[in-house]
Order: sequence, then C-alpha cells, then structure tokens
Amino acid sequence: MRQLLLVTGGAGYIGSHTCVELHRNDYDLVVIDNFSNSKPAVLERIGRITGRHPTWYEADLRDRAALDRIFSQYRFAGVLHCAGVKSIAEAERDPLKYYQNNFEASMCLIEAMAHHNVRRLVFSSSATVYGESARAPYREEAPLAPNTVYGRSKMMVEEVLHDLVHADPSWQIAILRYFNPVGAHPSGLLGEDPNGIPNNLMPYICQVAIGKLNELAIFGHDYPTPDGTGVRDYLHTVDLAQGHVRALQHLFSNPGLATFNLGTGRGYSVLEVVRAFESASGCKIPYRFAPRRPGDIANYFADVTRAAEVLGWRAQRGLAEMCADSWRWQSLNPDGYR
Ligand code: WQD
Repeated sequence: MRQLLLVTGGAGYIGSHTCVELHRNDYDLVVIDNFSNSKPAVLERIGRITGRHPTWYEADLRDRAALDRIFSQYRFAGVLHCAGVKSIAEAERDPLKYYQNNFEASMCLIEAMAHHNVRRLVFSSSATVYGESARAPYREEAPLAPNTVYGRSKMMVEEVLHDLVHADPSWQIAILRYFNPVGAHPSGLLGEDPNGIPNNLMPYICQVAIGKLNELAIFGHDYPTPDGTGVRDYLHTVDLAQGHVRALQHLFSNPGLATFNLGTGRGYSVLEVVRAFESASGCKIPYRFAPRRPGDIANYFADVTRAAEVLGWRAQRGLAEMCADSWRWQSLNPDGYR
C-alpha cells in the first residue's frame, strides 16, 4: 500500500516540484491550495510528468471546517506544508496578510494535525530567518534575527513547532530553511509564475530575456563581495524538492525536531548569474547598476553540512543547469500557466 501525504501549496512553485519528486518516490498525494498565487493547471501538469494525478482541494488553510473534512476523509502518513506568501516587499506593506497566511494558517493546519493524530510534518521555512545574525556560511545553530515581516512570519511558526515537540515528543518535524530556489522542471512544464513584475532575480532576468522587461536593475555594486554585487546561494528547485523527500523519509525513523539548511553551500553574485544566464540562453541581458535595495545583505549562503550528514542530501545541479531550465520554462511558457 502506498503511503498518502498531504501537500499544502502543492500547486505553487516549490510545492509542485515537490509533488513530482514525491510521486517518483511512490507516495500518493492530496493537495490543498487556495490558488492565490498558482493555478489548478499546475496539477494537471504534475500528472503529465509523473503519470499520476494528485487529488486536490481548493481551500484556504484558515478554513477550519474544510481542513477538518479533509483530515476526516483520509489517513495521512505526513504533511508537507509548502503553502505561504513570500514577497518581502508586500509583507512590509501588508503585515497582517503575512501573519494570517503564514502564521495563522500554519496554526490551523497544526491544530487539525493534532486533532486527527497526524504528527509528521515537513515545514517550508526560509534562510531569511537568520537575517544578519551571523556571517555566511550560515549554520543552523546561528541565532534567528529576521529583519523583515516575512522572515518573522516564518520564524514564529518555527518557534511554535519547537514548543510543540517539547510538549509532546511524539511529533516528527523537519524545518527546511531554503536559500534561493531557482530553475524549473527540465520538462519545461513546471516553473515559477510570479504575479505582476517579479521581485526576485531569476524570474526578472527571464522576463528581460523574453522581452517583457527592458533591462535588469542590479541593486548595489559596492557590496564587500568579489565584484561588488550581492552574493546568494541559488539552488535548483528539483534539488530542493528532493530535499523534501529526504527530510520526510528521515522523519519516519527519527522523532523530534530537526532543522536543515537547503542550499548548494556556494554563493554566486548577481553578475555571475547574469553571465551564466546569457551563456545558457544565448540572450543578452541588458542591465544597469541601481542603488542597493533596502534590507539586502551582501553575502548569503548556507553551510550545508547537516543536510549532507543527516539526510544524505546534496544539491546536484549547478548554476548553468538552473539557468538553462529557467530559460526553457520561460521560453516555452511566456505567459506562465495562463
Ligand atoms: C537576489 C539578489 C538582489 C532582483 C528573497 C527572500 C528569501 C527567499 C528568496 C523566500 C540580491 C539582486 C534582485 C533584481 C537585483 N524567498 N537583485 N535585481 O532577496 O536573496 O531572497 O527571495 O523564502 O527569503 O529574501 O532574492 O532573488 O530577490 O535577490 O539586483 O531585480 O539579486 O539585490 O542580491 P533574495 P532575490
């Protein structure tokens, strides 16, 4: 008998790639998504890639009655909680939206899990919870000091999860701190489909390449980095998705709570990403230097030792592949899933 898992946000950028890798590992899936930043078409594409279609429900996690119905209907072996909102800038303008969608929704989900005796959870957190508390490479032990509303909305959930395990050690919880997920499924069927003008570097570059945007503004070129532009730990979304599978499998034999950085452990500057993208796509990316973006940090990359040692997981895909797959997705789907 295949085990059944619940994936929240399963139609989203990370959730959809995670569904594909879970199918490949022979799990059956139920997806809950409110489609606030995703489309039901994504689930059909997951089916085209894997030959299996997740069962899905359009529901908001704060709808307790809907959650209760879903948990009553199935016996889940675990939950992967990928649902959330993730724009740093929007969170500063509308903090309540972030505390409601990231914190309150997580509380509703955890309550439903406790009520229905499902105590295995993989939680999508973010490397942004470290803020500038330490220096790169960031280890999981680094203090948490997020400098944004978004980061605090993730940290608050992490804190609750720690308290939960403290009170009841039968919980099995993995907190995954993502660095900078980029890339797309190599089939060209799944990728990132941001609403409006992208905030993040890779989708922005893709839209310049396809001619939707004129040029890239590089935020800051006077950082204490080798070429003066910001350095980040970009990782391929398929590697990230496989990290979720490994984390879940780890939980089956390891009660308690464990936190893992998921990144490659290596940083690339904005200019290095631009050059790698130009080589992968054959497109020229016009850019200009602009002032630093408020809140940005010079150097942000992971120490990935723990994920390697404990989960046996390491990112396999390099920057060239991330760029090639992002470009394939963008060029085959110029209007995303629309
Ligand atoms: C990367 C680099 C920018 C856009 C954010 C969140 C993080 C995670 C991923 C979810 C920086 C530069 C960017 C542009 C640029 N999200 N840049 N021009 O800020 O590292 O991380 O997204 O959990 O939590 O903080 O990612 O892609 O926005 O920026 O020069 O138009 O590219 O300054 O150096 P960031 P990013």
